[in-house]
Amino acid sequence: MADKEGLKTAKDYGLDTPFQAQGDFHVKGANNLDWGMKKHLSNIFDAKTGKTVMFAFDHGYFMGSTAGLERLDIVIPPLADYVDVWMATRGALRSCIPPSAKNGVALRVTSGSSMLDDDLSHETVAVDIEDAIRMNADCMAVQTFIGADGQLSSLENLSRVINAGLRYSIPTLGVVAVGKDMERTDRFFKLATRILAEMGAQIVKSYYCDHFDEVVAACPVPIVVAGGKKLSEEDALTLAYNSIQGGAAGVDMGRNIFQSEHPVEMAQAVRKVVHEGFTDKEAYQFYQDLIH
Ligand code: 5RP
Repeated sequence: MADKEGLKTAKDYGLDTPFQAQGDFHVKGANNLDWGMKKHLSNIFDAKTGKTVMFAFDHGYFMGSTAGLERLDIVIPPLADYVDVWMATRGALRSCIPPSAKNGVALRVTSGSSMLDDDLSHETVAVDIEDAIRMNADCMAVQTFIGADGQLSSLENLSRVINAGLRYSIPTLGVVAVGKDMERTDRFFKLATRILAEMGAQIVKSYYCDHFDEVVAACPVPIVVAGGKKLSEEDALTLAYNSIQGGAAGVDMGRNIFQSEHPVEMAQAVRKVVHEGFTDKEAYQFYQDLIH
């Protein structure tokens, strides 16, 4: 059993060396996966840019009707043409989202938290693999709580979903949760993202941080960056830009789109950064031009 004594601090991230196991598939770490897995990953990550704009509206699974998501049926459908993937619960999708939409599906499969509970770190796998298949999920999202009281149970959840996903060729998205007592440092995110990848998650969702490029280099699967709490549109576009510049395979943005004054225009501006090489300043100008 490895012990913590004598573990040296990692320092050589080879930032100038591209990922050496890429092969000819556009998703990091997926070259040895089977056709079905690659098909689902291709429904998430654009084959030309290798990136994705995930639009997250799964907040209701523990926040209820949060600001901006009071009416899923009104807010979500207009965004379909501007985001690549819905990050959502089965309840929201089945009740409010037309199955004719072409968007990929990142299906939230764990639950058990609520805003009434101080400790969000104890969840369960609520959606079984059969329903993920029925929903045509392109990945299954599992909340993990590294360093929190719920670490073991959340990693058990992750393993169960990865095992089922491998049986049926559906990727798993390991979600790095950051509890209120956790440190949003590169040291924490290097640990958390790498653990999820080593356990077999095909995609990891995390947060932008200092030395983010090192976090990306040390993680052998793609990292998508959560938007986090609402920022100004200008700052949110800078967050997206810095994430992409740092090597993120995309963003998974919720509140910074659905709590924007102009969600559709904001989604279009995010897309410019992720897929079309816009700088944050160019994307913000694009956003301003759209709304005026
Ligand atoms: C909420 C989530 C969201 O998917 C994730 O945090 C992205 O949303 P936002 O950009 O609003 O943080 O995990 O449970």
